Amino acid sequence: MKPLVASHIAAVKPYVPGKPVEELERELGIHGAVKLASNENPLGPSPKALAAAARASAELHRYPDAHAHALRVRLAALHGVGQGELAFGCGSNELIDLLVRTLADPSDHAVIGAPSFVCYGMSLRIANVPMTEVPLREGLYWDLDAMHAALRPNTKLVFIDNPNNPTSTHVSKGRLEAFLRALPRSVVPVVDEAYFEFADATDYASALGMRHLHEHLVVLRTFSKAHGLAALRAGYAVANAEIVGYLDRVRAPFNVGSLAQAAALASLDDPEHMARYVTLNRSERTRVSAALTAVGVSVAPSQANFLCVGLGRPAAPVYQKLLRQGVIVRPFGTPLDRHLRISIGLPAENDRLLAVLPQALA
Ligand SMILES: Cc1ncc(COP(=O)(O)O)c(C=O)c1O
Repeated sequence: MKPLVASHIAAVKPYVPGKPVEELERELGIHGAVKLASNENPLGPSPKALAAAARASAELHRYPDAHAHALRVRLAALHGVGQGELAFGCGSNELIDLLVRTLADPSDHAVIGAPSFVCYGMSLRIANVPMTEVPLREGLYWDLDAMHAALRPNTKLVFIDNPNNPTSTHVSKGRLEAFLRALPRSVVPVVDEAYFEFADATDYASALGMRHLHEHLVVLRTFSKAHGLAALRAGYAVANAEIVGYLDRVRAPFNVGSLAQAAALASLDDPEHMARYVTLNRSERTRVSAALTAVGVSVAPSQANFLCVGLGRPAAPVYQKLLRQGVIVRPFGTPLDRHLRISIGLPAENDRLLAVLPQALA
C-alpha cells in the first residue's frame, strides 16, 4: 500500500516552541515561572493596539478585509512603496512558507544559513526543495561569501535573517549590499527583518533601502516582536508587484484576522510605546550581557531582543536545571548545542535568570 504521506513529509521534525509558563508550572507544581524563550515583548502591546482589537471584536461575525486595505495604505506610506508591493501573512512565518510554496519546487535549490531561523529549513523540507545549509563563521556570524559560493544554476531562494535568530548577530550594510549586487537575477533573496527594530549597530541597515540592488528582493517584517502582537499573528512582505501578485494567488483568502489588522494599524500609531520597549531592551541587553560575561560564559554581540550564550559545555543539562528553578530559556541542537538562547525580559525577570544561572552552571 502507498504510504499515507511522502517520505519527505514523514522526515519533517515538528517545530518545537519555547516551553509555555503554564506547562512548566503544572509539571513542577510551582508558581511565578519566567519565560525568556520566545523573544517576545515583555512590556506587552501598545494600549492603543489593545483598544483597537477590542473595538474590532464587535465585528467578529464578519470576515476580515481580505486585502488588509487600511494596514496596506498605512505601510505603503510608511515605507514609501506601492500598495501592490505588500503581501500580508498570518505572522511572517506564513510568508516564509508562502514564498517557498509559490516560488520553488523540487527541481529548484535554496541556500540558508546554519544556524538560522528554523522555519526556512522546515518550509523547504515540506516543499521538498533541496537546500544547502551554509555554516555561519564560528557558528555565529554570517558568511555571505560562502553563501554566494553555495549558489547553483537552479538556486531559487536565499534566506537571510538580519539580525539572525538564534545567534543575535547581524550582517553589515556593506556586505549585504555587495551580496545582493552580485546575486543572479534568477534568485529571490529573502531578507527577514523580524528583529529590525532592535538593531542599532552603526553598520546595520534595513534591506528596504536596497531594493534597487535586486529586483526580486523580498523583505519580511513582523508585528510579533517589537510591536508585541505575537498572539495575533501578523507579518508582511515588501516585494515587487509580480511576486506579491503570485503570493496573493497562493495564500488562503482571509489569512490575517481583523483583530490582527486593527491592532497592527494602531500599534504603528504608537511609536512611543515601541520606543520605550526598544530602549529598555537595549539597556537590559547591555546589562545582562555584562553580567553573563562576568560569570564566565560567552555572549555573542546581540542586535536583537535575545542573547546567544555560549556555555563551553553541553547546554541541555543547564537548560534542565534552569527549568527546575522556574526559568525557561531555549536550547538548540547542533551546531548550537553548547549554547542557550535567552530572551531579554523585564529587569526583574532578567535578575531572576542572573540569580539562578551560577547554580545551574555549578
Ligand atoms: C527570524 C524570524 N523570522 C520570522 C519569525 C516568525 O515570526 P512571526 O510568524 O510571529 O511573524 C521569527 C519568530 O521567532 C523569527 O525569529
